[in-house]
Amino acid sequence: NAMLQWQRTGFHFQPEKNWMNDPNGPVYYKGWYHLFYQYNPDGAIWGNKIAWGHAVSRDLLQWRHLPIAMFPDQWYDINGAWSGSATVLPDGRIVMLYTGSTNASVQVQCLAFPSDPSDPLLTNWTKYEGNPVLYPPPHVGEKDFRDPTTAWYDGSDGMWRIVIGSKDDRHAGMAMTYKTKNFIDFELIPGLLHRVPATGMWECIDLYPVGGARGIDMTDAVAAASNGGGEVLHVMKESSDDDRHDYYALGRYDAATNKWTPLDAEADVGIGLRYDWGKFYASKTFYDPAKKRRVLWGWVAETDSERADVAKGWASLQSIPRTVVLDTKTGSNLIQWPVVEVETLRTNSTNLGSIIVEHGSVFPLGLHRATQLDIEASFRLDPLDVAAAKEADVGYNCSTSGGAAGRGALGPFGLLVLADARRHGGDTEQTAVYFYVARGLDGSLYTHFCHDESRSSRANDIVKRVVGNVVPVLDGEALSVRVLVDHSIVESFAQGGRSAVTSRVYPTEAIYANAGVYLFNNATGAQVTATSLVVHEMDSSYSQNQAEMASL
Ligand code: FRU
Repeated sequence: NAMLQWQRTGFHFQPEKNWMNDPNGPVYYKGWYHLFYQYNPDGAIWGNKIAWGHAVSRDLLQWRHLPIAMFPDQWYDINGAWSGSATVLPDGRIVMLYTGSTNASVQVQCLAFPSDPSDPLLTNWTKYEGNPVLYPPPHVGEKDFRDPTTAWYDGSDGMWRIVIGSKDDRHAGMAMTYKTKNFIDFELIPGLLHRVPATGMWECIDLYPVGGARGIDMTDAVAAASNGGGEVLHVMKESSDDDRHDYYALGRYDAATNKWTPLDAEADVGIGLRYDWGKFYASKTFYDPAKKRRVLWGWVAETDSERADVAKGWASLQSIPRTVVLDTKTGSNLIQWPVVEVETLRTNSTNLGSIIVEHGSVFPLGLHRATQLDIEASFRLDPLDVAAAKEADVGYNCSTSGGAAGRGALGPFGLLVLADARRHGGDTEQTAVYFYVARGLDGSLYTHFCHDESRSSRANDIVKRVVGNVVPVLDGEALSVRVLVDHSIVESFAQGGRSAVTSRVYPTEAIYANAGVYLFNNATGAQVTATSLVVHEMDSSYSQNQAEMASL
């Protein structure tokens, strides 16, 4: 089926076929980036035989698929070799910790290591003969104990630390810290690293330092702090099984007391910031020593039906790998940005300059090819229009305020992507990527950044939502967005990466040469200027160096 085939992406990571979920154990080893992932070798849906898929890359874009790294083939992981993380030891060796679902469906932690450390591709993996190395502690549900983090070393007692997520009997999400000398014997550190009421099971916890422009390794940050230095913050992230979103918060980790404390209790983990306001879950970061950065991967599931997934023979993508840094301008959020390598895929770049979009109008961009794009756009509202919009416009919410069709004085406006290039209006397909500026009761402006998926497809077996949230805009800043369009995914980064929104979309008509891009301004009383607009066509990452990759 050509239409289903069209949904495969050109520069996002996906296996050749079958089901994928969480990114696992990302790590840089001997010149190669490794990505493991939850994989069902038997089909395009999740199942109880989840294995570890594996691929390697030189640049985080062009991947070589390798044999399955681990199958669920032991009593302790026979119901699934679930998510886990890699740790690089000081001598360069790698240890992998992952969750096994046992023959009795108990969640236990298991140890594995490369069978041949001299193989840069780390093709074969050996499970430790004494597995499992860790059982759920007393008072923790045996099905609520999973997804170990990367370990870090603490010089104060010469032991490694890992964090595992769970929930307690009152439905609070919680993070437990273990220490170990050898990754075989583990000791639970008394007390919890953190706990937040009513947030449910915390899957795939991540904990890492952020400071300046560069990434920081957790072990280095702990060492610096113990020497009295290191003004870093620590991000804690958990994936909420309750509502399937990845929540993070900025805080401080105190190694001596084993406590992580949020900077702002109102924006604690699980109740405040999300990495992404769309489809993005079970993410994980790793420190990349080659480029001294921290890189984030997230699972972007399908939003079509299981039946459609089975028909196309595959399900799920990984997000574009994103560099993560602290937003030093606001001090209260992260910045996520597609890794710089993504820019090497740009081919045909068109600078469309400055375009005025009157209220209530659309402007077609007339592109040659619009299925794989990297769009950079900046918008400004006319200051007179902003001043004239005096009335408070409270209660705006991306999800409930009518999306791209719900009109206000200062929005919505932005881009329509994967939109039918032949005609606009009526019920033609489009995915809106937009801003909506609202005046609060205090007179100040609040900028919402949203995706409207409600018209993204004519198909009716699809979850279509309007998603997004308020994004901080500082004095003098234009409203800016970078949008990656790749067949069935639209991944946007607003205000330089302060806010990210990812959508899966399944156009049936706005495909191939019929896919187009429009600017739109649905505000009732404001003119919008796209002050800069650059559209890059994107190469497929797999088409770039097939020969080189094949010869490896
Ligand atoms: C998150 C998750 C993890 C688990 C894995 C199983 O999506 O449920 O908690 O380890 O997926 O595939």
